[in-house]
Amino acid sequence: MSERTTESNNKADKRRKTLKISDLKQLSKIFAYVGPHKGLWALGFVFLLITMITSLLFPKLLGGLMSSSPDNLRDNMLQMMGLLLVQSIASFFRVVIFVTVTERALAAIREDLYSRLIHLPMTFFSSKRVGELNSRVASDTSQIGETLTTTLAEFLRGISMVIGGITILAFTSIKLTLFIVAVIPPLILVTIIFGRFIRKYSKKVQDEVAASNTIVEETFAGIQTVKAFANEAWERNRYAKRVSAIVGIAVRGGYYRGAFASFITFGLFGAIALVIWFGAGMVHEGQLAGEKLNEFILYALFIGGSIGGLASVYAQLQKAIGATETIFNLMEETPEMDINSENAASIDVSKVAFSKVNFSYPTRTDVQVLKSVSFDLNRGKTLALVGRSGSGKSTIASLLMRFYAIENGVVTVNKKPLSEIDLKAWRNALAFVPQDVLLFGGTIRENIAYGDTKAGEEQIIEAAKQANAWEFIQGFPEGLETTVGERGVQLSGGQRQRIAIARALLKDPQLLILDEATSALDSESEQLVQEALERLMKGRTSVVIAHRLSTIRNADQILVLNEGEVTERGSHDELIDQGGIYAELVKLQNVAKASNEF
Ligand SMILES: Nc1ncnc2c1ncn2[C@@H]1O[C@H](COP(=O)(O)OP(=O)(O)OP(=O)(O)O)[C@@H](O)[C@H]1O
Ligand SMILES: [Mg+2]
Repeated sequence: MSERTTESNNKADKRRKTLKISDLKQLSKIFAYVGPHKGLWALGFVFLLITMITSLLFPKLLGGLMSSSPDNLRDNMLQMMGLLLVQSIASFFRVVIFVTVTERALAAIREDLYSRLIHLPMTFFSSKRVGELNSRVASDTSQIGETLTTTLAEFLRGISMVIGGITILAFTSIKLTLFIVAVIPPLILVTIIFGRFIRKYSKKVQDEVAASNTIVEETFAGIQTVKAFANEAWERNRYAKRVSAIVGIAVRGGYYRGAFASFITFGLFGAIALVIWFGAGMVHEGQLAGEKLNEFILYALFIGGSIGGLASVYAQLQKAIGATETIFNLMEETPEMDINSENAASIDVSKVAFSKVNFSYPTRTDVQVLKSVSFDLNRGKTLALVGRSGSGKSTIASLLMRFYAIENGVVTVNKKPLSEIDLKAWRNALAFVPQDVLLFGGTIRENIAYGDTKAGEEQIIEAAKQANAWEFIQGFPEGLETTVGERGVQLSGGQRQRIAIARALLKDPQLLILDEATSALDSESEQLVQEALERLMKGRTSVVIAHRLSTIRNADQILVLNEGEVTERGSHDELIDQGGIYAELVKLQNVAKASNEF
């Protein structure tokens, strides 16, 4: 886990000592999601109320049964059975209703959260580890679900048992009740203190589990790399270290839990023994009817049990509040565009320009990645970006797509700052073919149709043909319905690129942003990809990060980047004449090409 999250967890811990009004406010945010099912929920509470009343009556009837005379033994027994029947039926409906309401509310929370997360800007994702985000979201929503289904009901039932039980006792003997009340507060106090320690450890365990899950997710996602480097043992070690860290913390937490268990045994049953001793004394002195003592003891037992239960309920409530806080903090992050805008305005891109753009990534503000980059790109023209690895080419593509905000300088579209242009309209107008194509799990059809989800069969096939992908797609027994695995592992690099090109063709964008793959293809697939790219770029405004000479040569303007600065600009011939870095690169590639042919 990164330093940052551990730190914020610690902060959350410090804030999380006692329940506060502001915490209840957090919980009330969840209730907003329960809102649409208010009626059903209220019905659930009716059943809860019934079980609360029957639980309160239970010790009374049980006490009666224990001290009943042979004459009314049967009646008492029947009463008892009736009560249990009512309680079990009410419990059934309470559980069913609460589960129904909770699952519906949870579905709404999950949907909302996902839709908000997916609309967050790139900056957010670059500062988080995706695996950790995943497991947090999963465990935090289930935490909330647990609270809505059981914890809340247990909390209310526990409270009613304690208050109701004491009230009932007070009617029988004020003196004995006062004695019980005197014993209870110290018990509660100790319980709370233990609860705090136990909670602290369970939170730490949760964090460690999240961190170890991150390892699992990352290694499975990059399983090829793990295997190719034969680093299974190294990963196993890394994971084992994390996992044994969990054991250490959990075991230390276990000591507290063990101590708590023995305290409950000793303290609680000790207190009950005290009550019995005190009550028996009162019976001897004639201050209390003998048969009332049974009832008293039973109530004392039930009240004690409820207090023990309340402690864990209290801990669970706090966890839920922590979880709610995490989830709603995520929900309050500012999205990069209006989440609910269904249909965006359309724009007609006639000119794109960078003007003295300076840029550093928000996660590495000390490194200036782009330094005063300027260029103009008119409709239908091609701009090629060339330069060494790490010179800032892909960064320019990211800024064009407005993945990040620019600190200095301005990107304009039709002379209007990009930051003022409707983001959805802008992204609808462009298509991006990335450096390494990641296909989504699903069929080839779905992957191509990603460019235009409303496209019909014929359009998809046409795009595939234009992208030189149709031939190999037809070669698969299932054609367009071929599944490409979670990350498209069954397709070769060149095939993946052509799928990505088909996707872009289907979108028919006004502006094309192409980050050419650096990976070498064999000359045949290189030829196929090249042809597809030419069709895609034809007559279209394009920004191309180019590695192949053939792509660059046809560009109207070439920018040579060096450490974030534009050092040369012009057409291919002009740059060759200048004899700078570009001329050098071309010479190198020609040499490489020539040697490849042998
Ligand atoms: N998300 C990021 N956060 C922080 N720094 C980044 C990020 N992406 C890239 N960088 C840094 O910005 C610089 C430029 O990276 P960029 O990806 O634009 O290079 P490039 O020219 O596309 O290189 P290549 O030809 O290898 O793809 C590099 O120093 C890189 O380390
Ligand atoms: Mg790049």
